[in-house]
Amino acid sequence: MKQQSMLTHGMILGAFCLGFGLLLAVTNSLTAQDIAARALEDRQNSLSQVIPDSIHDNNPVTDTVAMKDGQGNEITVYRATKNGNVTGVAYEIFGSGYGGKIKLMLGVDAQGKILGVRVLAHKETPGLGDKIEVKKGDWILRFTGLSLDNPLPDKWKVKKDGGQFDQFAGATITPRGVVRAIREGLDFFAANKAHMMDLNAPKAPMKEEH
Ligand SMILES: Cc1cc2nc3c(=O)[nH]c(=O)nc-3n(C[C@H](O)[C@H](O)[C@H](O)COP(=O)(O)O)c2cc1C
Repeated sequence: MKQQSMLTHGMILGAFCLGFGLLLAVTNSLTAQDIAARALEDRQNSLSQVIPDSIHDNNPVTDTVAMKDGQGNEITVYRATKNGNVTGVAYEIFGSGYGGKIKLMLGVDAQGKILGVRVLAHKETPGLGDKIEVKKGDWILRFTGLSLDNPLPDKWKVKKDGGQFDQFAGATITPRGVVRAIREGLDFFAANKAHMMDLNAPKAPMKEEH
């Protein structure tokens, strides 16, 4: 009698474990799918801000080239094409701020003119360095339309360093890091334009945003 009750309890416990195990596996798989969908949505959002709809008839999220940037980071170049011609590209660039690495997305047209820049991730201080975010101010919008020769190379600095870009009150390190990252991002385009715009270049694998 006692043995039978132990067996019954054991079976009930086993069934619970199996049930919870299955539930966990299903939840885990749904969460992973959700994270992947959100990452894709995020990328789509940031790309649509630096590549205007009017310049492409493809989907830049899936038209990619894998490259290494000047600092050795693996980056994905997203391409805008219209009637089969590359009209612009967007790619991740990295700056060094007060709180650490600042990750941005830079969009440039085929002539190397900035279509837009947006901050993707940063650890700058709220109220001081975070004015680089578009939702905190229009500072980052002032780069649209600029290129390596506009302003001239020695003006690609914050005003405090003799350049043309405003620093923030009490915060020069963050904007200095961003201006430098953008200028280096334009240098990268100038040096690698042929590969970035080559329609036969190997595609980048789809990856998660970090
Ligand atoms: C707690 C704290 C947080 C700060 N956060 C930032 C920041 O996010 N970005 C920034 O540029 N400066 C920040 N600063 C100010 C910098 O230390 C520095 O004084 C400022 O950027 C001016 O730099 P400059 O002396 O090179 O002009 C912070 C300072 C303190 C004390």
